[in-house]
Amino acid sequence: MPDFPFIIVRELDALRAQVAGWRGSGHKIGFVPTMGALHEGHLSLVDLAGEKADKVIVSIFVNPAQFAPHEDFDDYPRTEQSDFEKLSLRAVDAVYVPHGDAMYPPNFSTAVSVGGVTEGLESATRPHFFGGVATVVAKLLNQVQPDLAIFGEKDYQQLLTIRRMVRDLDMPIEIVGGATGREADGLAMSSRNAYLTADQRETAGELNKIMRHAIDTIEAGETPARALDKAKTALLAAGFNAVQYLELRDAETLEPVKANTKSGRLLAAVGIGDLRLIDNMPVLLP
Ligand code: PAF
Repeated sequence: MPDFPFIIVRELDALRAQVAGWRGSGHKIGFVPTMGALHEGHLSLVDLAGEKADKVIVSIFVNPAQFAPHEDFDDYPRTEQSDFEKLSLRAVDAVYVPHGDAMYPPNFSTAVSVGGVTEGLESATRPHFFGGVATVVAKLLNQVQPDLAIFGEKDYQQLLTIRRMVRDLDMPIEIVGGATGREADGLAMSSRNAYLTADQRETAGELNKIMRHAIDTIEAGETPARALDKAKTALLAAGFNAVQYLELRDAETLEPVKANTKSGRLLAAVGIGDLRLIDNMPVLLP
């Protein structure tokens, strides 16, 4: 195995010893959890961790608990060596790659369930998802015990779920949201974009443009209901085969916006071929 400019840790005891040493020397620890198949979007989160902390730990773990039986757990890209190569070009101190059976030993019987922000949106089609995410992130945060952890705004409902969990369970960790990495045409970066055909890739670039247009018209005074109806029609005309949701929610609580909501978030999930794309953007309400 080539040498990398960070340590690769696969055992929890070794991780704890390393973190204790850094903490004993007064270092602030930043943590970026990932499922690997790293792209520039992840790497920008790693860079953000480097700006905010003295030591940066990245985890790579494809978490079975957040995939439903019909989803792509077995086929999810596992690209450890190329992930290490990408991380070696950034300021990373440790990469934590836990074993599946250490994360979920026999008779594993505990689940973390977060209410409120997890309702609707992603949960409507992926009811298992946030339970699986909250459980593995609670474990990873307990294992790493960082001062701060970075999650991408691309998965906005996930980011708010983790914030709520950390607040409710009194975990002494700052949760920082990192801006969504975008391709030149604005498509939000995702490990699953690699599965798009050339035609689908072209259509995919329309999602953020149609959302942007809807936001511009809402900010200019159009009613959200009318702007979102037009946007749904435009998405289907652009070649997406389904609009699973396109909803304007309160940016903090993810509840439907009220007359006095100032800070909104437009969140979307669309189907393209057998794939699904999600995106979200801020909306300033009048
Ligand atoms: O966003 C992801 O990559 C995953 O949901 C996470 C936070 C690493 C948990 O498995």
